[in-house]
Amino acid sequence: MVKHLTKSNLKVRAFAFALATLINLTFLATSALAQDAGMSAPAQEGEKLFKANCTSCHDMQNKMTGPALKDVHTRRSDEWLLKWIRNNEKLRASGDKDAIAIFNEYNKVVMNNFESLSEDQVGNIIAYFKEYVPPAPKVDPGATATPEVSFYSEPTLYILLFLIAVLLVVLMILRRTKNSLKSSYEEMTGVKEEESVESPKSAAMRKWINPTILKISIGVVVLLSLATYGFYFGVTDVGVQQGYAPEQPIKYSHKIHAGDLQIDCKYCHSTAEYSKQASVPSLNTCMNCHKGVQLRDKYNGDISPEIKKIYAAMDYDAESGKYGDNAKPIRWIRIHNLPDHAYFNHSMHVKGAGVTCQTCHGPIQEMEVVQQYSTLQMAWCINCHKERNIDVENNPYYEKLHAKIKAEKDNKNSVYSKYFTNDGKIKITPAQNGALECSKCHY
Ligand code: HEC
Ligand code: HEC
Ligand code: HEC
Ligand code: HEC
Ligand code: HEC
Ligand code: HEC
Repeated sequence: MVKHLTKSNLKVRAFAFALATLINLTFLATSALAQDAGMSAPAQEGEKLFKANCTSCHDMQNKMTGPALKDVHTRRSDEWLLKWIRNNEKLRASGDKDAIAIFNEYNKVVMNNFESLSEDQVGNIIAYFKEYVPPAPKVDPGATATPEVSFYSEPTLYILLFLIAVLLVVLMILRRTKNSLKSSYEEMTGVKEEESVESPKSAAMRKWINPTILKISIGVVVLLSLATYGFYFGVTDVGVQQGYAPEQPIKYSHKIHAGDLQIDCKYCHSTAEYSKQASVPSLNTCMNCHKGVQLRDKYNGDISPEIKKIYAAMDYDAESGKYGDNAKPIRWIRIHNLPDHAYFNHSMHVKGAGVTCQTCHGPIQEMEVVQQYSTLQMAWCINCHKERNIDVENNPYYEKLHAKIKAEKDNKNSVYSKYFTNDGKIKITPAQNGALECSKCHY
């Protein structure tokens, strides 16, 4: 058996072991990271198209301007969906009963036609509908959220650090095994390897730096450093955009509409109260007024050039008062945008906690052009959660909790005693209610 333990044999084994370990670990890591890429390529493509074209009116889970679409493939055939999405007006005109029924159900709100999307692209969107998996429920404040895996997330960092640690340990073990095997080989055969030609210095170096192991380790260290750097870059580079105020495709002014005309924010951002997103309104909302409001006085009898842009996008002909087939959505430039790993829910704050829009967005009603007023950084969220008092007294949502707390007012040992200030008033911060837990805000 001693025969097998030649030096080159040892090297090959060490190399094979290291390689197998690496492959195993890489496999482990990638399968952990690949979880959110569970959809097929067409469905992923479809998701992108859906997000770019449809989310102004549709949510997969919730009814918005249009229906929730998560089960739509179960109520409609692929063929129907293709026709509807590309030109719902034509489908309705063809007398399709389902198309007419859903149109009436949604108060004849017109969905844009998407003939600019190819049949394949619409096919991808349909594939997305089919493969869509709803995220774990997060809206229910009582439920514990299951974190979703995205690349820029804490787990990734831990996996990377863990991999580095494991590889270092593997390298150490390999070196030790090699050395002890070598010395037992020498003991048993009585042959001292490399007694000799080599200078003591380079022999010592060689003992430390086995070229194969060296190559593997350099490769691994470089790869892992890049990945770690990429992670930090992704994490720290996203997001801080306070003051960001891009010019929009139509010179829509909040100062005119929300300020001078005093239109309620929720008239346009109607979903803010009951869904995660506040959502920018579709042009149909604008048309409620701008079919009539053309400001011809201001432009010597002509229609305002900015309002013409609305008509052009809706393919609306002001003279005949008819809509054509070529409506396309306006691409408003998104201003507020948290990174994907953070979760924010409007209804929870607006309806649940009664925080006004202006607390977070500033005096929007005075802005000609919307700008990002707050930093939207984590510390901003956390600070408010530590300080703000949840008004449990005047909020029906907290009726039961409030009653319980009040009943325990004089009981110093009660779990509710922490909710009383020194002068006997009730103060509950979101922090006391669990709003500092990482998983509440991070997927
Ligand atoms: C301007 C708002 C708007 C946009 C943008 C929009 N939709 Fe719609 N969609 C609606 C409305 C409203 C309805 C309900 C029917 C109606 O009133 O025409 C609807 C209905 C549907 C239906 C039928 C649902 C059912 O239950 O039968 C499908 C499917 C659909 N939309 C897919 C899409 C897709 C895909 C996109 C993006 C490519 C999109 N919609 C973009 C407003 C919109
Ligand atoms: C008449 C419709 C209308 C009303 C009323 C309205 N908005 Fe808007 N809002 C829009 C449109 C359209 C946009 C997208 C264009 C833009 O950014 O100016 C928008 C954009 C925004 C944005 C930026 C969205 C982003 O991209 O991050 C915020 C924040 C906002 N509105 C808050 C408010 C608040 C707060 C009020 C009430 C004081 C309000 N809006 C009233 C139509 C409206
Ligand atoms: C409730 C009615 C109402 C709604 C809804 C509404 N507007 Fe207006 N809008 C007005 C009125 C009234 C004016 C004229 C104000 C004035 O006298 O200058 C106006 C003015 C404008 C102007 C300035 C035009 C110019 O040349 O001076 C633009 C652009 C505009 N609106 C875009 C929009 C867009 C985009 C939407 C949808 C997001 C929208 N409006 C929704 C009532 C409305
Ligand atoms: C507690 C703070 C807070 C309050 C209150 C708040 N928002 Fe927001 N809003 C945000 C944050 C944070 C974002 C970015 C969300 C994201 O990127 O996921 C945002 C995004 C938006 C957007 C962009 C579209 C979207 O949904 O992401 C609009 C429009 C908007 N808010 C309007 C409103 C209106 C209108 C109100 C009041 C009814 C309101 N917000 C109240 C913090 C707030
Ligand atoms: C101006 C104050 C304020 C800001 C800013 C704010 N929040 Fe909140 N948040 C609250 C209040 C108040 C509640 C308590 C709501 C309730 O329980 O009714 C809350 C609750 C929450 C909850 C629910 C916690 C639970 O216990 O279920 C989450 C999640 C949350 N906020 C996320 C965020 C994120 C993410 C940001 C930053 C992007 C943010 N919030 C910024 C005031 C704020
Ligand atoms: C109230 C909501 C909230 C809570 C609770 C919260 N975070 Fe965050 N976190 C955020 C938001 C929002 C961002 C995005 C900030 C940005 O884009 O600058 C963020 C960003 C981060 C980042 C990226 C680095 C950065 O600053 O941009 C890390 C890492 C992080 N959070 C870790 C944690 C950990 C760990 C916890 C628990 C101890 C935690 N977070 C709790 C809201 C929260």
